[in-house]
Amino acid sequence: MTAILSVRDLHINFGGVKAADGVDLEIFPHELVAVIGPNGSGKTTFLNLCTGYISPSQGSVTFEGQAITDLRPRQITRRGIARAFQIPQLFTGHSLIDNVMLAIAAQRGIWQPFRPLAQREYLDEARRTLGLLSLDEAADLPTATLPEGMRKLADIAIALALKPRLLLLDEPTSGVSTAEKFPLMDKIVSVLRAGKITALFVEHDMDMVERYADRVLVWDAGRVIATGAPGEILRSADVLERVIGVS
Ligand SMILES: Nc1ncnc2c1ncn2[C@@H]1O[C@H](COP(=O)(O)OP(=O)(O)OP(=O)(O)O)[C@@H](O)[C@H]1O
Ligand SMILES: [Mg+2]
Repeated sequence: MTAILSVRDLHINFGGVKAADGVDLEIFPHELVAVIGPNGSGKTTFLNLCTGYISPSQGSVTFEGQAITDLRPRQITRRGIARAFQIPQLFTGHSLIDNVMLAIAAQRGIWQPFRPLAQREYLDEARRTLGLLSLDEAADLPTATLPEGMRKLADIAIALALKPRLLLLDEPTSGVSTAEKFPLMDKIVSVLRAGKITALFVEHDMDMVERYADRVLVWDAGRVIATGAPGEILRSADVLERVIGVS
């Protein structure tokens, strides 16, 4: 099968820290891949490199057969990759529905999303997307007033509104109570499966990884040190010691 995303020999240093130290990997269509690894191992940096927020000093990122290594974030979004952030990126003074409409309009290069003529189309699309994640009732609330879990979900809704073929999620359920985690991820995964969206999610909770990932990528010190099915990876003594700190 041809990879949807293929990364070759990616490098980036921050001072003396090798945040990407020769990353090589492939993501295949319709996979749901978990990215695990200790704090500071380069997981978020990897997402930044794939979405144009950071340029690598060496190496390449190819999406659907085309090099995207040196493109800007907005150009990459238009190619079909969207992301949600470790800390949700929202216009906190605006309502949730306005945030989604702004994202849709920005992606299309339209900078007056609230023009009366354009509004109906964006509004319908934004409402549809919020509905997918059961956020309808929060649509008109200012995002600043939403609880943390809902803000994470809102950031994901905004990414989904961009109709990505590849979605990168940075700790989608961090800051969410244990009781809420599974229902939240169930919702996200059902939208991904229904839309045949390939996705990668950074995760520290191994129960989430075990339950949702088709495959796991293990990061350590800017490198992918192992990949495989959750059942295999989460029983590896080396992975347990390096990532979870149990030996
Ligand atoms: N823009 C930046 N400028 C300087 N240093 C950075 C930058 N981004 C990341 N780093 C450093 O690179 C390393 C990898 O950071 P990164 O945020 O990718 O880790 P992470 O695996 O996402 O960690 P966490 O699990 O805590 O989110 C860290 O040492 C971090 O301090
Ligand atoms: Mg991170």
